[in-house]
Amino acid sequence: MTVEPGMQRKPKIFVTRKLPEVVRVELIRYVEAEIWDFETPPPYDVILEKVRGKEGMLCLLTDRIDAEVINAGTQLKVISQIAVGFDNIDVAAATAHGIRVGNTPGVLTDATADLTFALLLAAARRIGEGIDYVRQGKWKTWGLTLLMGQEVYGKTLGLIGLGRIGQAVAKRARGFDMKVLYTDRTRISEAEDELGVEYRSLQELLQESDFVSLHVSLNNETRGLMGPQEFGLMKPSAVLINTARGPIVDQQALYAALKDDRIAYAALDVTDPEPLPPDDKLLSLPNIIILPHIASATSATRTKMCMMAVQNLVAGLKGEKLPYPVN
Ligand code: DGY
Repeated sequence: MTVEPGMQRKPKIFVTRKLPEVVRVELIRYVEAEIWDFETPPPYDVILEKVRGKEGMLCLLTDRIDAEVINAGTQLKVISQIAVGFDNIDVAAATAHGIRVGNTPGVLTDATADLTFALLLAAARRIGEGIDYVRQGKWKTWGLTLLMGQEVYGKTLGLIGLGRIGQAVAKRARGFDMKVLYTDRTRISEAEDELGVEYRSLQELLQESDFVSLHVSLNNETRGLMGPQEFGLMKPSAVLINTARGPIVDQQALYAALKDDRIAYAALDVTDPEPLPPDDKLLSLPNIIILPHIASATSATRTKMCMMAVQNLVAGLKGEKLPYPVN
């Protein structure tokens, strides 16, 4: 096994999850990896213990990499996250310790936009309810009013956040002749010209949209962004789609809005917490679809994400600038 130029020996790293074999084989060309070889995340205490003496860490969005972990990792040079979101990592603490942090932007944009649109269509056309109806043997005839949903074609889609994923969703919406509105911290005039999207304030967007889709990262400004007031501004026929992060939505407020028919439907790929406990009251509602955070889950995308994370890791171990840096 070769030792990379710039590395005198294979650096020790900790990997917080079982990896696809092709990724594991690539990784061990460069490093001595201690791998938490399971499909479920290591407990926090294990992360705290395993980070000691390691120069690098390959981690996932399920792992809490807080200041305590960072303090324990006195040898750490790089934290490489296999995800675009990194709200689980205390980046400020890492930066203060001179530790590089990397993520995997770009490669999961299309997979996430595809799933966003799948959720939008599934909610509009009540696909989950239809599947259950057939499986439960309830299908007796062609029903004139059976499982009536709403049109997507020609409706208004409001995107909260017009980054890479928001823009990819806007492209898909054009094929459905939708009017696309967006709100963001600043206006993005190139996207307005290229995609024909129109800027609105958050309030205007919520009032005008038939479908509202969230594409912002989770931070102090966006936590609880969708609360009682925001649901109150939406149309009673509106659908909320969230493929970003669970805590952007106040779930108590969402439950009340769906239960009291203040909005029509929600389709979520992300929740707070994850996993959502099976007895969570959101799951008692008929007008919601919840998926287990699978927006980027195609084997091509996940493999690309892992390989990008390996590139970040190797660069950081060599003391080089990461190809996909967070800090
Ligand atoms: C991410 O990368 O942040 C997604 O939520 C999972 O792929």
